[in-house]
Amino acid sequence: MRSRVAIVGAGPAGLLLSHLLAAEGVESVVLETRSREYVAARVRAGILEHSTVELLTGAGLGGRLRERGDEHRGIHLQWPHERHHLDFVDLTGRSVWVYGQTEVQKDLVEAADARGQDVRYEVTGVELHELTTERPHVTFTAADGTAHRLDVDVVVGCDGSFGPSRAAVPGTVRRSWERTYPYSWLGVLADVAPSTDELIYAWHPEGFAMHSMRSATVSRLYLQVPNGTDVADWSDDRVWDALATRLGHGQDGWELTPGPITSKSVLPMRSYVQTPMRHGRLFLAGDAAHTVPPTGAKGLNLAVADVALLAPALAELLVKGDTALADAYSDTALRRVWRCTHFSWWMTTMLHTSGDRFDEQLQLSQLRWVATSEAGATGLAENYAGLPIGF
Ligand code: FAD
Ligand code: DHB
Repeated sequence: MRSRVAIVGAGPAGLLLSHLLAAEGVESVVLETRSREYVAARVRAGILEHSTVELLTGAGLGGRLRERGDEHRGIHLQWPHERHHLDFVDLTGRSVWVYGQTEVQKDLVEAADARGQDVRYEVTGVELHELTTERPHVTFTAADGTAHRLDVDVVVGCDGSFGPSRAAVPGTVRRSWERTYPYSWLGVLADVAPSTDELIYAWHPEGFAMHSMRSATVSRLYLQVPNGTDVADWSDDRVWDALATRLGHGQDGWELTPGPITSKSVLPMRSYVQTPMRHGRLFLAGDAAHTVPPTGAKGLNLAVADVALLAPALAELLVKGDTALADAYSDTALRRVWRCTHFSWWMTTMLHTSGDRFDEQLQLSQLRWVATSEAGATGLAENYAGLPIGF
């Protein structure tokens, strides 16, 4: 097989890249280990930054988003006995949208089908070869068991934290930075109308809690839990009790309405950055190059921002033979990666309890400053609603 670009991974980064490349007249083949149904059903991120919405809209992918998504002006930040609303639109002129990653994925798959995009699901044994030559290739076994070789000009690793692409950069070239946090999130989806208009991020001595949502009838909620937590130890009643305590049920007349829980899972929290994001004819984008803890909702947005830089860079390289943007890709993308890595770490360490009494007082002082000072609130708002692409 021959194509211009081999994209490993059909998550949001991979499918959006194939979409943007197609719009520039660059053909690609996408290889994905999982089934189409599995990829479409994964419950993950829920918040889109201003620039993500702009980019998806500009790419013709904003129709359902604007119909079914929900634009939010900001978030509520709280600690016991206090809740403050931060209005990002007033502070920065930028809003965020509640629109689940599952919905983004659906829109991308639909657009891929409509343009006849070659996406191979359920492939195995993906291997990357000759990446530092002008003729890299990828070998894999298709779902029907046949072996294939795909010859391309460029390979893009969009295969997330567990794919083979990041390890294809030789150990002598790559550098990585990592932080593992001493807590995880228990995430639940519930068939109940959200008890809040906008997201609540809550600091509590028993641990962080967050109230998010997916629609007018579906709530998404998270609880800080110790690493190694077994979901079996968290009955629905225990989840709702902990959420009520930490989110302040009864505080100033606010009530949390419980409902049937339809999914429950534990997410570990990690920061990871690998550089460079380009090695020869291999480019990395999204979780393949970096992971952030979920506090602050940056993972999906960062994957979109990488691809927004990479698509024009590859088009210049492959259509005009101009290498400038491709050469600059890693350094340019990493500026935003480190900004988001810092912001996610900052939100995480401000909101999660570690049992240290001194740290608790620092967290409460910081929360009060962020919630009540315009300078503090603007810093959070600017990062949360997202800096412009190319920042
Ligand atoms: P992915 O979505 O991981 O896609 C990578 C794709 O590559 C996958 O489809 C995978 O199956 C495929 N792949 C892997 N190996 C191979 C291979 N060998 N060959 C071919 N394909 C391969 N972010 C937030 O902002 N908020 C959240 O609440 C949030 N929750 C999350 C919950 C979970 C459980 C996880 C894992 C992530 C969460 N994230 C969240 C992060 C966010 O979902 C990711 O940052 C985002 O999906 C990154 O997109 P991506 O396309 O780079 O990677
Ligand atoms: C969601 C996840 C996040 O990590 C976050 O900061 C906000 C919302 C969500 O899944 O809805």
